[in-house]
Order: sequence, then C-alpha cells, then structure tokens
Amino acid sequence: MRILHTSFECYPVAKVGGLADVVGSLPKYQNELNNEASVVMPYYNNKYVNKSQLTDVYKGSIQLAAVSYEFQVKQLKSKDFNFNLFVISIVGLLDRENVYGYEDETNQYIAFQLSLLDWILHNKEKPEIIHCHDHHTSLIPFFMKYCNAYVTLKEIPTVLTIHNAQYQGHFSFDKLNLLPSFNHNDIGVLDWYGSINPMATAIKCASKVTTVSPSYMEELKEKANGLEGLLRSEKDKCIGILNGIDTNVWNTETDPLLAKNYTQSTIVSGKKANKKVLCDTYGLNPELPLFGFIGRLVGEKSADLLPSVFKEVLTNQEINILVLGSGHQEIEIQLEALKNEFEGKYNVYIGYDEKLSHLIYAGADFLIMPSRVEPCGLNQMYSLRYGTIPIVRRTGGLKDTVIDIGDNGFGICHDQASVWDISYSINRAVGLYTNTKLFKKTQKQIMKIDNSWNNSAQEYINLYKSI
Ligand code: ADP
Ligand code: GLC
Repeated sequence: MRILHTSFECYPVAKVGGLADVVGSLPKYQNELNNEASVVMPYYNNKYVNKSQLTDVYKGSIQLAAVSYEFQVKQLKSKDFNFNLFVISIVGLLDRENVYGYEDETNQYIAFQLSLLDWILHNKEKPEIIHCHDHHTSLIPFFMKYCNAYVTLKEIPTVLTIHNAQYQGHFSFDKLNLLPSFNHNDIGVLDWYGSINPMATAIKCASKVTTVSPSYMEELKEKANGLEGLLRSEKDKCIGILNGIDTNVWNTETDPLLAKNYTQSTIVSGKKANKKVLCDTYGLNPELPLFGFIGRLVGEKSADLLPSVFKEVLTNQEINILVLGSGHQEIEIQLEALKNEFEGKYNVYIGYDEKLSHLIYAGADFLIMPSRVEPCGLNQMYSLRYGTIPIVRRTGGLKDTVIDIGDNGFGICHDQASVWDISYSINRAVGLYTNTKLFKKTQKQIMKIDNSWNNSAQEYINLYKSI
C-alpha cells in the first residue's frame, strides 16, 4: 500500500518530542510489512538537513490570500531510514531553523499543506492513504473534501492521528482568506466554538481518527480541551493504537550514544558504567540510587510539581536526581535553584541533548514520569528497554504500558498529580532499590518487554485496509 505520512517533525531530521520519534519509525516498520510508506515534512535550515543530500523532485506555486509563493519538493536521502522522505521548502516561510515558535505559524502550516496537495495533484502516482499527524497537517482532509482545487483527490482516504489534543491549531475566521476557495455553505465544517479549528475539522472530515494509546482515546471522550463532545459523536471512526518504539535505534547492545553497551546478561556492569559517567559528569554519588527525569518542563508533564517533590525527597532520602529538559522559564529557574541546596545529590541540564537522554535511560535506576496528561509517552518505553524502572502516573499511554510491581507488574504507579503522591512513589522506589534481589530481577524482566512497532504497525495497516 502507498502511504503518505505528513508531519512537522520526523526523527532524525527535526525533533521536538515524541511526534518525531513516531513519524521517524512507524513508516520503517510499515515498509518491513511490504508497504511503500513515505514522509513529507517542511524543509528546515538545521544541521541535519544541511549535511544531507537533497534532490529536486517538484516545483510549484501556491496562493495564500493575495500572496503567491513558489515551493519546492526535494527528496532527502539518508542511510538513517528505509523510507522515502520529502521536504517542502518555501523561501521566507518554510526554510527556518526551528520547528515551532514563529508568529506566522498558521501561514506556515497552511502553506505546507497546500504545497503538498498541489504536488500530489500533479503526481501521476497518488498515495492510497494520506496519514496526517497532529493539527499542523490536519486541514488536509478538509481541503481534499471541500476545496474546488483538490476535488480530484476526494476519494483518497485520510487518517488523522492525534498525538496531543492540547494543541489544536485554532485561528480566527479573520484569516479565512488564507484558505483556498470552497462552497460557503460548508463553512461550518471549519468552525469549532467560533474559530477555525484544524484538529476539530479533521475529526469531522478524516476517514479515521486515531490517538496514540487506547486509554488516551477514552480519556479524550471525557476531557479534550473542548473536543470531547465531537469525539463522542464521531466515536465510530475513532480508535486508540498504542505507539511502538524503534528497537533498532533504542538498542542497548548497539546504541552509539552510550558509554558502555550492554545486554540482559551484562546489565549490571553495563548500567553501572553508564551511571558512573553520569555521576562523574554531574557531580553525583554513584553509590546512591539515581532517579532521572527527561522531558518538556510544562504542566502536562507535572513539571511544575517537580521542584517541591525534589526538595521533599532529597531532604529525606539518600538519593541522586538528574533532570534533562526545557520549557517554562519559571520551572527552569526553580529547578536550577535546587542545585546549590543539594550539591552532590542533584543536578539539572536545561536544554535539549539527545546523547544525554540516552545516557540517562541507560544509567539511571528509575525514571520519573508523573504526567498530568500523557497521550502515549515514549520515555517510559525507552526506559523499560534500557532496564530503568519507570515511576508513572496512571494516565493515557502510561496506564497502558506500565503495571505496578504490587500488582505483579514491574513499575511504580500512582494516581494523583500531587507532590505527596509523587514523593510517595519515589519513597517506594527507594524501598525497591534496597531489595537488591527483586530490584535486579525487575531490571532484567523489563528489558525483555516488547514495545516495538511490530504489533501496532500492522494495526495501522488493518485500519487503512478498512477504509
Ligand atoms: P512528548 O512528545 O510529549 O514530549 P514523549 O514521551 O512522547 O513526550 O517523547 C519525548 C521524546 O523527546 C523522547 O524521545 C525523549 O527522550 C525526548 N526528549 C524530551 N526532552 C528531551 C531533552 N531535553 N533532551 C533530549 N531528548 C528529549
Ligand atoms: C505527543 C504526546 C506524547 C506521545 C507523542 C508521540 O507529543 O505528548 O505522549 O508519546 O506525541 O505520539
């Protein structure tokens, strides 16, 4: 089957979070199942793209209100992936260094989607499925169904995957003139609570809607930033499919970013060597259990609670904590401020660092993930694969992938996003760490869990076949 994934992120070309990991790995696994999956994303003026080989594929032009833009589709070739990857560049709009954060982002999103459709229109071989990821590319199903220019693409089935319903991309009807022409009787399809809401529009127009875990789909029907009623009324086309991980990239035996590679049988010495490097670099004590946190420092991840949690547990327990992340400045400042108070037991790296993240998954004893909202979460799956016991709040994908050790499982789970509950879980983890036999047995056990894409990649294919 010819599948076209459309996304603003794709690892290793451009990554902000888990969206990139999914779009960079699902097509690989789909191709291993004898499909022809490709990815189209914007062109970024970043290190990875600049060192890559780009071949011109197509040139065209699009119109945004009164301005017309020339765009170029180029194929980016690399040994890093086994699927075709195309980037779309537009001088002054889709040629920037960062993925998000620009004032004219709505124009960027619309221009990308229109260029993509224009290219497909002129391409002889059409995709058999267009799979849109998150709100940045979720006007595509509307354009294909309702806009005169793309009416010949109407029959191609579309899938929307919601990676995060917090961000819906809505913008004011004042910008309606940025969209291509359609019959104004259909204007209600774009409308959700008085603004143009791309995610809501795709929930209405796409052939199928997926979320990245079954539990998150159920949660969204109750609470989805205003989309809950819509998801309930469209429930027959909605399904939760759990993300997988790329077990070739996330492989302790071969991961080039680790200080020492290891297997299930060399886990003790392997993790010890990685922990030592982390402790030496960040001034921590390798004799104490090491708790890691990796992620965006935002409310969704309960990052605002972390400074109080860390103060509490570092005061009462002999443990190390190492944090890697960036986000709200207020949280960054509070996390930095703890460094002086708990020197030798605590450190934080504010920023994005792929190598450090791999080292933490390998060298930490526990990974803290107390998210308020977690559509799927990949960190807990990486940490399981690297033999690091996850401490999670039972929500979304965390609930679907981690079972508490008290329920014959392998992780530590709690229900509330509160300082008390998170601290209590960390205290339970310290208890587990001191039970050396059970701790080591659990470490080995979790490395064996199969969270690869093998199952879910096939589930997506079955879904495509159904439409
Ligand atoms: P989300 O997409 O909501 O941020 P996920 O758990 O799905 O959360 O994915 C996060 C991905 O981003 C993981 O691959 C994680 O290792 C990575 N990541 C998050 N923050 C950082 C950081 N500061 N440095 C390096 N990698 C990070
Ligand atoms: C989003 C979600 C995260 C999920 C990722 C990949 O960023 O916040 O939970 O794992 O998408 O689907």
